[in-house]
Amino acid sequence: MDKKALFEDISKNILMCRKCALGSSRKNAVPGEGSVDAEIMFIGEGPGREEDLQGRPFVGAAGKFLDELLCDIGYTREEVFIGNIIKCRPPNNRVPMPWEIEVCIPYLYAQIAIIEPKIICTLGNTPLNALVSSKLTIGTVHGTLLEKDGFKFSPMYHPAAVLYHGELKGTLKKDFLKLKELLNAEQK
Ligand code: URA
Repeated sequence: MDKKALFEDISKNILMCRKCALGSSRKNAVPGEGSVDAEIMFIGEGPGREEDLQGRPFVGAAGKFLDELLCDIGYTREEVFIGNIIKCRPPNNRVPMPWEIEVCIPYLYAQIAIIEPKIICTLGNTPLNALVSSKLTIGTVHGTLLEKDGFKFSPMYHPAAVLYHGELKGTLKKDFLKLKELLNAEQK
């Protein structure tokens, strides 16, 4: 099977998934979207209200801001991959429970294995803690380059947190510019 077919297979499994209770409370699962050849994957926490309604990642206010940040560094949504640690919306947008992450994260690992990105950009604490280390916090490691299990990670503040704390906007924009430099320096 080619990469696209493998990816679509995972998406189909996500859309039918009932491994945890979120499978019953969601309207739509949100597998994630973008290019299977993406150099960079952006990973958020989990779908919010708008994402749950549309079945697409980062389509609300935070998503519009993410589009703007991508545009600043010369990318479109279609050229990268955008997804989440968990694929179904937690009620009232609460932080995902550890067991929800545990049953859902294999889908993301499978997506990462297919895409083989140069850099995985984690947005906020939840993906940083789930993918890199539970001991790190975004306030101390944002804008750096971390490595784990042969993958490179660039942690960023979550765009929704920055919309809420406007004083972080300049920091996030700077971290995106750094990300572009890191990508330029990487060889796939
Ligand atoms: N916030 C997230 O973490 N993910 C989305 O898809 C939307 C908002």
